[in-house]
Amino acid sequence: MFPEHVGFIMDGNGRWAKGRGLSRSDGHRAGTENIRNIIQTSKDLKIRYLSFYAFSTENFKRPLQEVRFLMNLLIEFFNKELPELNKEGARIHILGDVSLFSAPVRFVLEKALETTKNNNEIHVCLALGYGGRAEILRAVNLLLEKETKHVDEKDFKDLLYTAGMPDPDLIIRTSGEHRISNFLLFQMAYSELYFTQVLWPDFDKDQYLIALEDFSSRKRRFGGVDDE
Ligand code: FPP
Repeated sequence: MFPEHVGFIMDGNGRWAKGRGLSRSDGHRAGTENIRNIIQTSKDLKIRYLSFYAFSTENFKRPLQEVRFLMNLLIEFFNKELPELNKEGARIHILGDVSLFSAPVRFVLEKALETTKNNNEIHVCLALGYGGRAEILRAVNLLLEKETKHVDEKDFKDLLYTAGMPDPDLIIRTSGEHRISNFLLFQMAYSELYFTQVLWPDFDKDQYLIALEDFSSRKRRFGGVDDE
């Protein structure tokens, strides 16, 4: 059984580069190329929702030079990949507060959203300026503004950036860290977690297939008991 929605915490670009005597920027570039490969493999496998943790609210604390590089990489990624992603029927979603980004970044993001808005083959979410706690608080504040008296799970989910999407079935974190780091906190209540030592730029199709095989061997109970 394949998951419907897979989330990726793409960690280890810096260590990948260091191990090769390259700059951190080279690591991020290699990591970005890997996003493309993972989208392609997922599409071939008919996995319909992907979420990539590309830039957290905390990532703004990195050295300015690195933040600038990542922003330029993001612009470059869309300039290069958008036509092909669109042709393949990918719909882009941004999870996070885009107002935190500069006008040129917002411009490419808005263009990507607009260009792909009618696509439905595969949904590609990029978490940018994203934090799970901030996302939950944003939903709470929207409710307070509306002076809502009662809210159920469905209503609440509709106020998250992932409104209308299935929860992630599987979250993969690369590079040997065993943390969630504020990613999709509300949505991952019943997600299966997969941690691997492999660094993100090395997380290729074979590694992905190993993770998917591991997922398919798990019994998901969602708090219930196994069916006999
Ligand atoms: C972690 O590697 C990765 C990130 C900070 C974010 C992931 C970013 C990409 C894959 C690039 C694509 C993103 C954009 C915005 C185009 P790390 O630097 O924390 O690695 P380290 O822990 O080994 O230093």
